[in-house]
Amino acid sequence: MPPQLPESNTSLTFTTPSSVPHLTHTPLFAPGPDEVLVKIHAAAINPVDIQIWGNPVVGLLAGKKEKGLGRDYSGTIVAVGSTVQASSSWVVGDAVFGLCNRPLAEGTFTRFLKIAPAREPIARVPRAWKFGDAAAVPLVVLTAFACLDWLPAVEKSPNGQQRRVVVSGASGGVGMWCVQLAKKVFGCHVTGICSGRNAEFVRSLGADEVVDYGEQDVARTLLGGRPEGRKYDLYVDCVGGTEMFQHWRELLHTDGAYITIVGDKTSRSALGGPLTYFTYPSQVWRHIYGYFFGPRYANVILYQKSELLERVAKLADEEGVQVVVQDVVGGILDEEGHKEAWEKVKEYMVGGRVRGKIVVDIAA
Ligand SMILES: NC(=O)c1ccc[n+]([C@@H]2O[C@H](COP(=O)([O-])OP(=O)(O)OC[C@H]3O[C@@H](n4cnc5c(N)ncnc54)[C@H](OP(=O)(O)O)[C@@H]3O)[C@@H](O)[C@H]2O)c1
Repeated sequence: MPPQLPESNTSLTFTTPSSVPHLTHTPLFAPGPDEVLVKIHAAAINPVDIQIWGNPVVGLLAGKKEKGLGRDYSGTIVAVGSTVQASSSWVVGDAVFGLCNRPLAEGTFTRFLKIAPAREPIARVPRAWKFGDAAAVPLVVLTAFACLDWLPAVEKSPNGQQRRVVVSGASGGVGMWCVQLAKKVFGCHVTGICSGRNAEFVRSLGADEVVDYGEQDVARTLLGGRPEGRKYDLYVDCVGGTEMFQHWRELLHTDGAYITIVGDKTSRSALGGPLTYFTYPSQVWRHIYGYFFGPRYANVILYQKSELLERVAKLADEEGVQVVVQDVVGGILDEEGHKEAWEKVKEYMVGGRVRGKIVVDIAA
């Protein structure tokens, strides 16, 4: 290891499901040939962190081994492996952000993390962002790109160039990016579904229309909002549940798509995404029916691609996309404060009321 680096690393980890996480101190080794070592400045919490932390099946599969928490990170490269060095793609001192998606292994609530750039999404922090902003982005933006990939081609849309997208949960981590990317990258007309308290916020992200799920009949409002009865192209569900399926063929044209990142489930603590095809077979039927007759239905998972992080970094510098951080929580690696800090970030995720993201300050 370069001499200025410490001999040991500190991380927040847990062993059995739902147990209070604790600090672990492990020797800090040099990165492997295809790895870089990142000194973490900031991380972020996502609902999946508490879903995996509390999941008994995951606990059973992983046994008693220490499992990390957190998937998003930003930081500075402090050492590079021999292969990476030879390729000159990453050098010591690069400010980076990325995703470390290893459900049964290391997390990003740690001082140092080894990343394999060829296999794990990583990009340079754009000028427009501080480390805290960059850490709030990877998981949610990679999910938003996966959702918007289901937009039908312009030639197949009754709405022509300005395809119409609905985003449910528009004020949350993924929803916020679906609104911005649909607008800035794909030039769509966007309707955001959110609470009244977040209506202005969702408009500020670029939504053309907002439906307040607390005050309005969502389906009726969406149906009434179709210009000359033309149907929507894409419905992105970041909340879960089955409410909209009574109407989805009225809402979406046959080449359109209903995309969910949660599934039919509504519990915040249960794992969502494509895994729920096994627990909710009606989703399988919907997918098959949609494939043959339309509109399409899919329960999707995030893309793990560095080029998408590079793309959003470029958008940050050139298009001014917003990163919205509701709170920055410190002390997650403090001997004294880590339990309190964990409780705080966990409660944010359980509550499900966060506007944008919650960042964890690792440097503090
Ligand atoms: N499949 C995947 O790859 C993937 C990836 C990422 C996330 N996910 C899942 O997607 C879900 C969303 O995660 P997230 O990180 O984007 O955000 P989040 O933290 O779960 O979203 C919270 C936001 O949702 C809003 N909200 C709550 N109930 C709502 C409702 N009925 N209608 C509209 N908005 C509502 C809240 O505002 P108000 O309370 O003011 O309404 C808050 O702003 C989670 O279940 C997560 O596990 C899946």
